[in-house]
Amino acid sequence: MRALSLSPQEFRSLAYRVTDVATDLLSGLDARRTFSDSAGEDTTAAFDQPLPEAGVREAIVDDLELILRHVRAPTGRRVPYVLGSGEPIAALGDFYASVLNQNASTWRSAPAAATIERTVVGWLAQGIGCEGFDGVLTSGGSLSNLMALAMARESRAAANEEGGQPCFVYASEEIHMSIPKAVALLGIGRANLRLIPVRDDLRIDLAALEAAIASDEQAGRRGIAVIGSAGTIMTGAIDPLPELAEIARAHDLWFHVDGAYGALAAIAQPTKFEGLALADSISLDPHKWLYQPIDCSLLLHRDIEAARRAFSYSDEYVKPMTDDPIEGFVFFDQTPELTRRFRGLKIWLSVRYHGFDAFREAIGENLRQATLLAQLIESESSLELLAPVGLSTVCFRWTGSDAATLDDRNERILRRAIERGRVWLSNSKVHGVVGLRACFVNHRTTDDDVRAVVDEVLAAADETA
Ligand SMILES: Cc1ncc(COP(=O)(O)O)c(C=O)c1O
Repeated sequence: MRALSLSPQEFRSLAYRVTDVATDLLSGLDARRTFSDSAGEDTTAAFDQPLPEAGVREAIVDDLELILRHVRAPTGRRVPYVLGSGEPIAALGDFYASVLNQNASTWRSAPAAATIERTVVGWLAQGIGCEGFDGVLTSGGSLSNLMALAMARESRAAANEEGGQPCFVYASEEIHMSIPKAVALLGIGRANLRLIPVRDDLRIDLAALEAAIASDEQAGRRGIAVIGSAGTIMTGAIDPLPELAEIARAHDLWFHVDGAYGALAAIAQPTKFEGLALADSISLDPHKWLYQPIDCSLLLHRDIEAARRAFSYSDEYVKPMTDDPIEGFVFFDQTPELTRRFRGLKIWLSVRYHGFDAFREAIGENLRQATLLAQLIESESSLELLAPVGLSTVCFRWTGSDAATLDDRNERILRRAIERGRVWLSNSKVHGVVGLRACFVNHRTTDDDVRAVVDEVLAAADETA
């Protein structure tokens, strides 16, 4: 038998068994713990195994069951951070994409994959009101943000050939951590990221932004970009995008919108995102609020030439060999990636299967569920909201003891609520106040799951008394 050989019968039988395990998981999801009670020593005992020189063949299916005991199950009550739910048709798309193993680098290397990716990019741009934007799928919002800043820098303070010059980036204090990472990686330097204060509603303070830009300009310091959030990570606040666009234009700054969390909600509620289409670039993450399996982000930009200026650099061996705009199309001059996964397939299949309106409805449900949770919190005397609920994130805390101990008590309540296993929430800090946080970007969440958040937090408060 040849090394790594697998008969069609073996593949079919294994694929059916994997499908059975996955189907059992999905059909029994609601009864599962959301947060497994795995300890570090359990996962080490389960998986820290010696390199298997000889294969175990179909016994690998047992591994799937073992893995299941140590997961954060994608139930409707898994609502920490900005964690999507993994729509199953899209998961089938990932499976098929891996079997096909296309290199979505160029049309020439993957005609269907390249065309499907360009199509879904167009669908999503149209869906959020940014028709005509171009873009590429990436591994995640962090990479999309890094790429956007690379484009911004190349367009305002070119660095690709001669190296970097001092330059400055403006964003609010509530900006996602991927931005300080990006400015560091690009050599801009974190000290040159001007973190502008926010107002009470956690949106960027425009007067403070203008003052910071003016002060840099007077000192001869070159700003390159202003970044707005279309849904901050902590509270979901949406910066005033039209005003930011105006300021960017007035000062010749690239305007990037980090919509990794929120921008896809423009499909359901476009009025919340007025000004989005004024951006030079937008990050938005189908693996968050389009319920796609990880990994899948989209970087949209209005000028493909700006992307090419930042990323194109080709060796002879990747020459497209034709001038045809379709057959000569390459993705690798719009992104740092050369070999690329067929990410478009999952979006293509799940949108075609369910129809776009089903996604609009699911996002609308998540927005409504955040409002429901906010109402439940406001009607509970021992709980209070910490921030306005503008999108699908609810930051809140338990207030039932004296003020001096509340931060510590809320941290303990959060830990206990998670340990109880039913809901998975994350922590929040709003205007310096420690609390808990639920973020609904999950198509499985029901109103009962929303009520479970309150029940579990109150039970955890009792148990930590
Ligand atoms: C606003 C925002 N930007 C960027 C990111 C980074 O995205 P990713 O985790 O896909 O790299 C996140 C992640 O939650 C986010 O909420």
